[in-house]
Amino acid sequence: MDELRPATSAALGRVVSVARPGYQARLIATIRRGLGDTVQKWLPAALFYDDTGSELFEAITRQPEYYPTRTEAALLTAHAAEVLALARPHRIVEFGSGSSAKTRLLFDAYPDKLGPRHYMPIDISESMLRHTADALITAYPGMSVQGLAGDYDEALAVLPRAADSLVLFLGSSLGNFRPDEQATFFTRLTNRMGSGSHLLLGIDRSDHGGKPVERIRRAYDDAAGVTAAFNLNMLRRLNREFGANFDLAAWAHRAVYNAAARQIEMHLVSRGPQTVTVTALSTDFRFRRDDSIRTEISRKFSLARMTDWLRTFGFAAVRVWTDPAGLYGLLLLRRE
Ligand SMILES: C[S@@+](CC[C@H](N)C(=O)[O-])C[C@H]1O[C@@H](n2cnc3c(N)ncnc32)[C@H](O)[C@@H]1O
Repeated sequence: MDELRPATSAALGRVVSVARPGYQARLIATIRRGLGDTVQKWLPAALFYDDTGSELFEAITRQPEYYPTRTEAALLTAHAAEVLALARPHRIVEFGSGSSAKTRLLFDAYPDKLGPRHYMPIDISESMLRHTADALITAYPGMSVQGLAGDYDEALAVLPRAADSLVLFLGSSLGNFRPDEQATFFTRLTNRMGSGSHLLLGIDRSDHGGKPVERIRRAYDDAAGVTAAFNLNMLRRLNREFGANFDLAAWAHRAVYNAAARQIEMHLVSRGPQTVTVTALSTDFRFRRDDSIRTEISRKFSLARMTDWLRTFGFAAVRVWTDPAGLYGLLLLRRE
């Protein structure tokens, strides 16, 4: 493995920062591009995950409308032993690990419930990663945990190339990438993964095959308003970290299913005309009533098309599992 820089504080325990110099400057440039887009303003979804956002995401997963987490957990419960028998991993690497709650279902399927020898969670939310790493070290004393705090790209640059690794990308987080970002991610991942290693990918399925569109949409617009709070929290973060002056009461949460693109889009919609200053950008942004900022896309997939597409990146499908209602897919793939 390339050398990892030490953690920024001893309190981080077994979490190291892989953030490259200039990350904040690049983030500011991205925010400038997004808010300056004259066709559709947007913000990067990674901005959701400050401390509050990470907690709100966990709360979303407990909402009755949010079927992806429950369905993926049921698939993992049913097939964890088979995944381990097929992949035989000594090391599990996980992109966007969050609380690692579902990952424990895999750990507990090891003989004696001891987990793999090594676990490497990767997450942009350093505080979430730190809490998770501490909890896992206590729960699985024989397992070495080395968290990588940073974005997917930064982590990919230091990923160990091992044949006995299982890489996890769960929660349909893949759906947050645009198609070009998805292709770049897999190009880089395929180069970092040793031949014979495995990938376990969890993806939410599209409305192909009769999945009700409203069922998909409601997962992003729960009745309790937790997803709305998660969405609006991005503005609070812009105010705190980038010197913006968004008035949260002047914005509304909206989730729409774009059937042509087969994706959920989350927006923040301006309730009236307003001007917002972002001090870190030294710029004012004007919004008319109903103008929106797109904060997330969540693409939905066909399992057959995904396995075909991944073959072009050197991944062969080993098993594909879905739930009885056909809502969600779990794909085990082998790096050839
Ligand atoms: C949708 S949540 C999924 C969490 C968990 N895997 C699950 O299935 O419940 C996405 C996770 O990825 C992390 N994340 C989002 N964008 C990221 C990025 N660009 N680089 C690294 N981590 C990111 C977030 O902090 C969050 O923990």
